[in-house]
Amino acid sequence: MCGIVGYVGEKSAEQVVVEGLRRLEYRGYDSAGVALVHEGAIVGDKRAGKLANLDKALAETPLPATTTGIGHTRWATHGAPNDVNAHPHRGPESRVAVVHNGIIENFVALRKELEQDGHTMVSETDTEVTAHLLERAVLGGADLTSAMQQLCSRLDGAFTLVAVDAADPARVVAARRNSPLVVGRGEGENFVASDVAAFIEHTRDAVELGQDQVVTITADDITVTDFDGSPSKGLEYHVDWDLSAAEKDGFDWFMRKEIFEQPRAVRDSLLGRHDDNGRLQLDELRMSESELRNVDKIVITACGTAFYAGLVAKYAIEHWTRIPCEVELAHEFRYRDPILTRDTLVVAISQSGETADTLMAIRHAREQRSKVLAICNTNGSTIPRESDAVIYTHAGPEIGVASTKGFMTQLIACYLLGLYLAQVRDTKYAEEIATVVDELQSMPENIQQMLDNADQVYDLARSLEGARSVLFLGRHAGFPVALEGALKLKELAYIHAEGFAAGELKHGPIALIEQDMPVFCIVPPPGRDFLHDKMISGIQEIRARGARTIVVAEEGDDAVEPYADVLIRIPRSSTLLQPLAAVVPLQLFACELATVKGHDVDQPRNLAKSVTVE
Ligand code: AGP
Repeated sequence: MCGIVGYVGEKSAEQVVVEGLRRLEYRGYDSAGVALVHEGAIVGDKRAGKLANLDKALAETPLPATTTGIGHTRWATHGAPNDVNAHPHRGPESRVAVVHNGIIENFVALRKELEQDGHTMVSETDTEVTAHLLERAVLGGADLTSAMQQLCSRLDGAFTLVAVDAADPARVVAARRNSPLVVGRGEGENFVASDVAAFIEHTRDAVELGQDQVVTITADDITVTDFDGSPSKGLEYHVDWDLSAAEKDGFDWFMRKEIFEQPRAVRDSLLGRHDDNGRLQLDELRMSESELRNVDKIVITACGTAFYAGLVAKYAIEHWTRIPCEVELAHEFRYRDPILTRDTLVVAISQSGETADTLMAIRHAREQRSKVLAICNTNGSTIPRESDAVIYTHAGPEIGVASTKGFMTQLIACYLLGLYLAQVRDTKYAEEIATVVDELQSMPENIQQMLDNADQVYDLARSLEGARSVLFLGRHAGFPVALEGALKLKELAYIHAEGFAAGELKHGPIALIEQDMPVFCIVPPPGRDFLHDKMISGIQEIRARGARTIVVAEEGDDAVEPYADVLIRIPRSSTLLQPLAAVVPLQLFACELATVKGHDVDQPRNLAKSVTVE
């Protein structure tokens, strides 16, 4: 998820673009850059790090005044966050410059084609390929709009592209597929951007572009076509948000926005990681198949929500690979003198990649000669840098302190790891793996279905504003979901919340049950080892003692109805993948209850987004 701005008009393009990037910095802050069209050439600068680094560079070496330009703040997906990988990227003749948000799934094949054609790439990014292809078409006589149309018809994946041509200062051309792009219609000036926050100080008249569209803006005109060049149009609307609301895409909290971004985040985290037959390809893994075949134990280490993702992963990885899988709190890990060998794979899960406890854990693991694989959302952060291998989640920046899309995409990455190990070690047939990949592919729409029913959960949260204690019960892969639901409530609503394995209740915790105590019960799919029936027995036990049962169960599971005071339906899914859907109502509940209680949902008391101290 990156920030993109393009401008053509009468003002200073550098000033409009850089200020627009500042409004979008929450979308990505690994690096930033601008490219301007000036007297038949492209001029610009780009720097790793926050936008302030680019500001400093531009102040030291000012760019010439011009009225056409593009800019980008990056959230890295392919290639470390450094100056070379920063956007904009240019063609070899510096005739064309491009900025990009998204993931080009087939960039490796396109890169090979260009290199066979004598092109040399200077960066590790997928984006640079588009600059070379655009420039090759423009140098071949196509105008920038036609070149963009030709390019987009060759790309697979999710992308917003914005480009300029040094020989055509009057226009900026952009295109989108599965990634946001909006046009700002001004007086004698026009804008393109990832979202309206970039230009609402100049104009509130916007045009939202649809799937597979190309837009050409000049100072006085906006022209929209399909990828095949046929005339089209976007959706005109007036923006009535203030800047703060615009940064949150109209949501009240970044956290709520991030909950609703989860379908896209899951889709992006799956992009490019399997072929059309469902065969997995984890190019960035940087571990050989023979190393993976030698793994005889897996230890997952993490903290907080990431730890709960690891607990879910254990069920899937052990079932698919038959490799023993331990899950350890990072801050306990090295003090218990763990048994680690060269054939132990330590998997460190961390959204920020900077959690000190987890970093110390992997340093200990590497001292014991174990291989370390990081699952991380922050490209180039310390934990993946100090690991042997990495699987990046593609959730985009997670601003809310309480992790939601981070957790969701950690689950996706853990499932991909488990399936990849099963593929490499032949513990699952190709068609079995493909079946799970197909189900993962359907998860964005399942999650969307939960989000579409958010009002039921919101009403429940409002009815429980006075609750002093809430319990969460789950079994099997639903047990870590119960723990995560309780953590969300603790860290946002500041009330007592506790997650239990449902089978544990009768061994003590059931003494906690009081009249009308709210208890979330996450019910596994019917049909697995009587797990479902035992969960219903547990619900009956607590209800008989006065609990208010809030049952999270699959569509069509009628057996739960007599015991549910509140019934929240989730889409059917397989046992191991159910956490992807079951966690969504718990996230919505915690977010809404905290909002009702008047808390700062994005920055809860006493907490930090990244705990960089032990
Ligand atoms: C989750 O909502 C919390 N913000 C916290 O538990 C977090 O998951 C934990 O600190 C680990 O952070 P990391 O994923 O960045 O390593």
